Amino acid sequence: MYSETVMEHFKDPHNAGRLEGANAVGLVGNAACGDILKIYLRIENNVVEDVSFETFGCAAAIASSSVVTDMIKGKTVEEALAVKNADVVAALGGLPAQKIHCSVLAEEAIKNAIDDYNKRRGEQ
Ligand code: FES
Repeated sequence: MYSETVMEHFKDPHNAGRLEGANAVGLVGNAACGDILKIYLRIENNVVEDVSFETFGCAAAIASSSVVTDMIKGKTVEEALAVKNADVVAALGGLPAQKIHCSVLAEEAIKNAIDDYNKRRGEQ
């Protein structure tokens, strides 16, 4: 059912856990499956210097989160915002149709985290 890349990220997720020194956090949940994803970012000079995730989610959510952290690390905020769930699916070598929403969580969590970053900056 899952590609080899999905299985690799599921078994050995990259950038998992809380991020010390994060200055933005994005939390999303999917009401239908009940899964939750939290993305932490440390943004400096408009660049995602570090990123990590925590999830109470399925294998596809874990793999999507893991691969998306690799994809946005070192990218500008604008480049990170441009990452779509279809890019996550492609990077994973595909996801089963009923698991596409898991990759949407990854896209939305990044957007929420960057919203959080912009909000915090506005409040400074
Ligand atoms: Fe909902 Fe995967 S089944 S995030």
